[in-house]
Amino acid sequence: MYYIFGFLRDYGIKITKSGPIPKHVAFIMDGNRRFAKKNQLKLANGHEEGAESLIKLLDTAYRLGIEHVTVYAFSIENFKRSSHEVNTLLALLRDKLKGIGELHKVYPSFSKVGVRIIGNRSMIPHDILSDLERIEADTVNAVRVFNVCFPYTSRDEIAHAIGAVATSSMTELITAQSIENAMYFAPDTPKLDLLIRTSGHQRLSDFMLWQCSTNCTIEFSDRLWPEYGYREFMCAIIRWGYERTNASEMSYRLGVSTSSIPKSIFHSK
Ligand SMILES: *[C@@H]1O[C@H](CO)[C@@H](O)[C@H](O)[C@H]1NC(C)=O
Ligand SMILES: *[C@@H]1O[C@H](CO)[C@@H](O)[C@H](O)[C@H]1NC(C)=O
Repeated sequence: MYYIFGFLRDYGIKITKSGPIPKHVAFIMDGNRRFAKKNQLKLANGHEEGAESLIKLLDTAYRLGIEHVTVYAFSIENFKRSSHEVNTLLALLRDKLKGIGELHKVYPSFSKVGVRIIGNRSMIPHDILSDLERIEADTVNAVRVFNVCFPYTSRDEIAHAIGAVATSSMTELITAQSIENAMYFAPDTPKLDLLIRTSGHQRLSDFMLWQCSTNCTIEFSDRLWPEYGYREFMCAIIRWGYERTNASEMSYRLGVSTSSIPKSIFHSK
């Protein structure tokens, strides 16, 4: 039985790969706590299930050919939670990232994945930070990238970038491009194509505000994060591809640039 499901999955990935595939997908992994409550699990088990779910999704994403996957692993706001939960989350994050080097034994797609920590590193406890930086250094030559936003908020990132540009270029003009180059995300990061948030909340919670400003599709799913799986993700990718194909086809027919399509549709008589 398992064999058949595995076969169908491989087949689904193969077919989907023949269509347009985003280069960069990000997840706001919301719903671990609610999942734990709903299933009468301990909070730590909710986060554990969430991590398992993420590993499977990463495998699917990299097999589809997605180059960068980004997750909102830990918001700076999370430091306001109970110290017990903060410590549980930090330890889980470190252990899971340490284990990433072994994952290729189960999921071959992980053999080419590099980890990047995106966020305000001065907020990470020293022992955890040195572990994380070792993991980053070990995987620096990878082909695919796993961006772990931690501890991150978009406004902190923008503040950091503006600060860096302002101090380094007293005489030069500050431009959108120079700010973008100084973000926590490395300049080689592709533009964000698809942002997915689970658990029904329709807000961005200070995540990648700068990056999702242009040509980014934002998807909200009612599923709790540990329940968001292969099927939901594949549907999101196929929908994204369909929208992109339609958009470029329409722009071709109308002879206008894609970015002006919504306007020309909604304002025509
Ligand atoms: C990063 O964290 C430090 C220490 O908590 C804080 O002082 C700083 O304002 C934060 N943000 C930036 C952009 O450096
Ligand atoms: C958005 O996508 C369209 C079509 O793919 C492209 O022509 C346009 O340059 C993109 N805009 C930006 C700001 O990347």
